[in-house]
Amino acid sequence: MMKVVAPMAGISNSEFLNKVIPLGFDVATLGGYSLDTPTIEASRKIVERGRKEFDFPLNEIFSNIENEVASIKQVNKDVKVSANVRATTPQPIIEVGNIKELDIVEINCHCRQDEITSIGCGQEMLKRPDLEEFISQIVDNVDCEVSVKIRANIEGIDTLEVAKLIESSGVDYLHIDAMKKGVFDADYDLVKEICDAVDIKVIGNNSLNCIENIEKMIDTGVYGFSIARAVISNNLNFDISHF
Ligand SMILES: Cc1cc2nc3c(=O)[nH]c(=O)nc-3n(C[C@H](O)[C@H](O)[C@H](O)COP(=O)(O)O)c2cc1C
Repeated sequence: MMKVVAPMAGISNSEFLNKVIPLGFDVATLGGYSLDTPTIEASRKIVERGRKEFDFPLNEIFSNIENEVASIKQVNKDVKVSANVRATTPQPIIEVGNIKELDIVEINCHCRQDEITSIGCGQEMLKRPDLEEFISQIVDNVDCEVSVKIRANIEGIDTLEVAKLIESSGVDYLHIDAMKKGVFDADYDLVKEICDAVDIKVIGNNSLNCIENIEKMIDTGVYGFSIARAVISNNLNFDISHF
């Protein structure tokens, strides 16, 4: 079972990830990072209203990610490093995907901050008529594996259909935040439906803050699971190493 530290903008840098990887994780996700002028401007606005974000200018972002990947690999040689990224076009994502030592580039189709969605990024990506083409351009032009992170149950989006489309684009992983409005638990039924319908590696996410929830997620047929909020304290109060 692949165990992933999920991305947290403004939190998940190499220093944080090096501390939490020894809790039993196989994949550490850096970011999310904004990679082009529109997304960097959106990040600035998010910082201005007091939310945590990584705020790097265009001339620093790619070398910063490269250094962060190296800082993790130096300490945790066997862990896979992923970078969760946002951009309005595939090109900057391709550039990150070709960073030396990076194992996975993760296309962020997940963020729901207005500043990001108003420029067609984050979860709004799932409404792009050219989503399959956008993703397959990245798949065809990078050396590393490709993941797409999505949010489930967005109004106006059929999550199962979008999962099938993402599979057709040739990615390696579908990372799904199985959030369901009004429920403080993952939508395990939907994750199972997706796992039954696609052959790519599904990473299940949302509210995995105890062993019981992880077991429910594993029962859906996922290839792996990811955790975000429960690792912020730098100390999971449950043991994931045996999964
Ligand atoms: C502070 C914070 C920042 C986040 N930033 C990102 C991000 O940049 N990209 C992304 O795909 N998900 C981001 N997420 C979502 C998490 O990766 C995860 O999908 C979500 O928190 C649900 O998982 P959890 O219940 O284990 O926390 C963020 C979550 C938090 C709490």
